[in-house]
Amino acid sequence: MSLNQTPPLKKIRLGILVSGRGSNLKAIFQAIESGELSQVEIATVISNRPSAQGLLYAEEKGLNTTVFRPKLFPHREAYDQALLDYLKQQGIDLVILAGYSRIITPVLIQAFPQRILNIHPSLLPAYGGKGMLGMAVHEAVIAAGEKESGCTVHVVTEDVDAGPILGQRYVPVQPDDTSERLAEKVLAQEHSLYPEIISRVAAALLNQPKGVTVQ
Ligand code: GAR
Repeated sequence: MSLNQTPPLKKIRLGILVSGRGSNLKAIFQAIESGELSQVEIATVISNRPSAQGLLYAEEKGLNTTVFRPKLFPHREAYDQALLDYLKQQGIDLVILAGYSRIITPVLIQAFPQRILNIHPSLLPAYGGKGMLGMAVHEAVIAAGEKESGCTVHVVTEDVDAGPILGQRYVPVQPDDTSERLAEKVLAQEHSLYPEIISRVAAALLNQPKGVTVQ
């Protein structure tokens, strides 16, 4: 490199885990493409389901993709250990759960402290925890007659959906809202909240004097 060439800026390498539709992955990809989310790159997209729409989207966009099939592993810890080895091999700085249906074990959480983020379609701590996934959340909110709902981005810890909250968006629930209608409104908010929080976390990681390598 000649003296007047500046080295390329370090980007935070994202490992994105998807199990389904992948609309949050798409929102993150589009935010990167538009320059709104400039500090990160998607290093890999991983799924536990070969047919996940999100995985197909990633392939279409030419992203690096991988499937880890749960049935090939004797237990969750072995699965997460294989995932961890792969994430390390890919030099991943930040793990993004984007509609990922599996509960992450301490094997992964302890290796990426404060470096795994999740988006959840409710105002946590309400309507979180085991079994609270996707439409089940919106159905429970409607059944309880709540006046508002929303979405939350949080750090993943060993307590399901209970890690530190990094950001939330509120959505009013109208009396005639169905769970499907509420899901659409919440999802629209997720798509702007997640890139915004990832940008904030990436900026913080880049500013860490000790760098952003995984333990
Ligand atoms: C999103 O609504 C996300 O918040 C939810 O699954 C959906 C995935 O949509 N996540 C959870 O319920 C996690 N507990 P997507 O595949 O289109 O991004």
